[in-house]
Amino acid sequence: MGPDNSYNLAVIGAGPGGYVTAIRAAQCGLKVALIEQNQRLGGTCLNVGCIPSKALLDISEQYYRLGHGALDRGIMVDQVGLDLSRVMAFKTNVVHELTDGLVGLMKAHAIEVFHARARLLSEHTIELSASDTGTVTISSENIVLATGSVPVQLPFLPFNGRTIISSTEALSLAEVPRHLIVIGAGAIGLELGSVWSRFGATITVVELLPEVLPGADLRVSKMLRRVLAKQGFTFHLQTKVTGYREIENGLVLSAVDAKGQTLEIQGDRVLVAVGRRPYTQGLGLENVGIVLESGPGKIPVNDRFQTACPSIYAIGDLINGPMLAHKAEDEGIAVAEIISGKTGHINYDIIPAVVYTAPEVASVGLTEEQVKQQGIAYKTGLFHFRANGRALCTGDAEGFVKIIAAQDTDSLLGVHILGPWASDLIAEAVTVMQFGGGSADIARTIHAHPTLSEALREASMAVENRSIHSSSSKR
Ligand code: NAI
Repeated sequence: MGPDNSYNLAVIGAGPGGYVTAIRAAQCGLKVALIEQNQRLGGTCLNVGCIPSKALLDISEQYYRLGHGALDRGIMVDQVGLDLSRVMAFKTNVVHELTDGLVGLMKAHAIEVFHARARLLSEHTIELSASDTGTVTISSENIVLATGSVPVQLPFLPFNGRTIISSTEALSLAEVPRHLIVIGAGAIGLELGSVWSRFGATITVVELLPEVLPGADLRVSKMLRRVLAKQGFTFHLQTKVTGYREIENGLVLSAVDAKGQTLEIQGDRVLVAVGRRPYTQGLGLENVGIVLESGPGKIPVNDRFQTACPSIYAIGDLINGPMLAHKAEDEGIAVAEIISGKTGHINYDIIPAVVYTAPEVASVGLTEEQVKQQGIAYKTGLFHFRANGRALCTGDAEGFVKIIAAQDTDSLLGVHILGPWASDLIAEAVTVMQFGGGSADIARTIHAHPTLSEALREASMAVENRSIHSSSSKR
């Protein structure tokens, strides 16, 4: 702490939004305090979100592959077993390695870290309470709120940590459920459903809307649903859960489907993954005149991330836009630069989104449905991974790349990938869009052979009906 407990910037919350803000602000020469109520830095993403889920997704996929189709490729496996406690230990090690790394990063940037609960007292003062150090007050010229979000609870299905769980518990189960019911076919439901399905659970997904991954390009959602169904998922779409009753070793959900028929679904656990909401409880917003928007309770900010109280800024899941770690990180960089007198900027039209199912889903820009709705004249190109040599070699030939480009200028409007390593492949599309490029720019760029990236090039060629390895470039 500085001699006078005062800082140029105090950041509340050390997730990807908050810790990135702190680092960038320190790089810009500010004296920075970072306040985090948990013992580990990294927030939801590193501790109970993106990172542990990807560790479990990768391990479960390796496990599944040994049990399914290895023999087709000539690999003889006598017996494939699962030691879930070691799986969880591996996951925890990954989390600790990254969160320990953050401690080093904070030290390297001379950022003062407080492990305490923060409450705003006024426009420049924050009360910090911790069980070991008691209560102190610090002051700061600027404050950035980056406290993230928490899972939405359904009133008729309240979390109990045992049979009705959120993503946090679903990342640390001590045994594989026999039947996991998932409410919500969004990113969390499909990713964690995939983990436990591959480890052997029966998965039933109940979704309110007519298709999985609402908001994704419809072609992607439809094919993903078919592929997951082949992997053993059962989907009840347009179905509304109405209640539940506990039974021995589980519970029975009641739901009403699109035809008005009542369903009863029995399982041993229910994962409720119906979205997240901003986490502002106890933050003292009322002391500084910040009033939450109605609905999901986001904090209103201007285009400089300033709240109603000009010395207090908010970023990440607390404000509008997709609840994604990389969006929060970039807002962190932008807000730190703005506070330092520079010009931070975010292009909200070019934020990639990824769902780590197998095959993966990755997209950037507009969906075909959005382009149509906005009345933009457009052209598309499609290329299936089954015609990509590398995808066939690795046995991952399900899926496609879809390019949407403006009819007149050819600029990329949206790119949608369902396929192997879509999460990494999308980066090329994002870069081209960032430079204002078109499908022809990708089509005329040499891509190494044999690589998955050739599928992106072929789909771009297909926009002008000149795909080399496919004769059906629109279907
Ligand atoms: P989501 O908003 O992605 O999906 C929630 C799903 O639940 C939607 O399909 C919605 O229609 C459905 N739903 C809502 N109420 C329902 C009800 N009563 N009954 C049945 N279905 C209902 O939220 P999710 O998956 O919980 O994720 C939370 C946030 O975290 C999202 O913003 C997501 O983008 C982000 N996230 C991102 C990941 C990634 O980038 N790979 C991974 C996990 C989460």
